[in-house]
Amino acid sequence: MRIVIGSDHAGYELKMKLIPVLKAIGAEVSDFGTDSGDVSCDYPDIALQVAKIVATGEAEKGILVCGSGIGMSIAANKVPGAYCALCRDISDAEMSRRHNNSNMLSIGGRTTDFSVAEEIVKTWLGTDFDGDRHVRRTQKIKAYEHSLSKSFGQKRGEIVIFDHPLVQHKVSIIRDVKTSVKEFRELVKEISSLMVYEITRDLPLEMIDVETPLTTTKAYALAGKKLAIVPILRAGIGMVDGIIDLIPNAKVGFIGLYRDPETLEPVEYYCKLPGDIEDREIFLLDPMLATGGSSAAAIDMIKKKGAKRVSLVCLIAAPEGVERVHQAHPDVNVYCASLDSHLNDHGYIVPGLGDAGDRLFGTK
Ligand code: PRP
Ligand code: URA
Repeated sequence: MRIVIGSDHAGYELKMKLIPVLKAIGAEVSDFGTDSGDVSCDYPDIALQVAKIVATGEAEKGILVCGSGIGMSIAANKVPGAYCALCRDISDAEMSRRHNNSNMLSIGGRTTDFSVAEEIVKTWLGTDFDGDRHVRRTQKIKAYEHSLSKSFGQKRGEIVIFDHPLVQHKVSIIRDVKTSVKEFRELVKEISSLMVYEITRDLPLEMIDVETPLTTTKAYALAGKKLAIVPILRAGIGMVDGIIDLIPNAKVGFIGLYRDPETLEPVEYYCKLPGDIEDREIFLLDPMLATGGSSAAAIDMIKKKGAKRVSLVCLIAAPEGVERVHQAHPDVNVYCASLDSHLNDHGYIVPGLGDAGDRLFGTK
């Protein structure tokens, strides 16, 4: 395991005692300074550097030591992808791994004895993430980081929750059991439009000449990136029009899958995709990501036909489904309007909105 470590002058002494501890347990340690306890330096300079290395995955874990551990943990947590826990004792260290999946540890050099610090480090490195309900919570933090960057699609394997007030308002209405089929259908279309507006934020533009009634000017046009949308039948159909309204030239494919009510496993019954799918960016549409079986299978089918870049656009996702899709397809981004609590015994999302296909097509 590669560990990066850093301290300011106040944490220097403890850091130098911890490095041999890390090496003794087999870690490959890189020290990012500072290299003296006598010369004052600014903790953010070190903490931000170490945090960036962890966030980009160049090192699996990072350890910071400053006077109290507080300043460095605050600085590190400004870096998206760094989850730094300030730990004062073994219990903090254990919980920050089990529940929070922290990838960085901050310790106070002036507040923690070496023997305690040694145990904190060993406990922290030796404890696994519990997963389970904590996945949903850590996913929410990651999704928030994404919403701040306002740059979707650059990184792969992400979960993005659209927290725009219009989206959230409309999602509340489609959850409501009293909402009619007509209204439900209209709202699914509207939410899909709002979501695709955000998802396509990074589409490449090119400069073109345009003649206005007054003059000729340079203006922007979409650079002609090839897109395709692929709804999973039936419920995915409800999302198609809202997206086609904004991207009229997108090709449309179809995948027919239904979930076996007993096994909850997907059963394939139809697949018709654009012929040049390997050249296109694919938006797979399904309002509900429950166990993730249907979406993971649909992505398999699309990739087998040669597609290289697939994103899943859903309205309501369950943490179990996001995990299953990312385990099977770590390169796929999942976009949703809400990450709900859990699945019930019948594989329905709670609180969810019930059966999306039935609510769209009035079949129950
Ligand atoms: C629903 C939904 C998804 C699937 C999600 O389809 O539209 O495709 O369940 O469940 P999963 O994540 O556990 O696989 P359903 O099987 O009800 O078919 P329908 O759209 O034809 O109603
Ligand atoms: N499919 C749905 O339509 N709703 C759920 O809650 C789960 C799967």
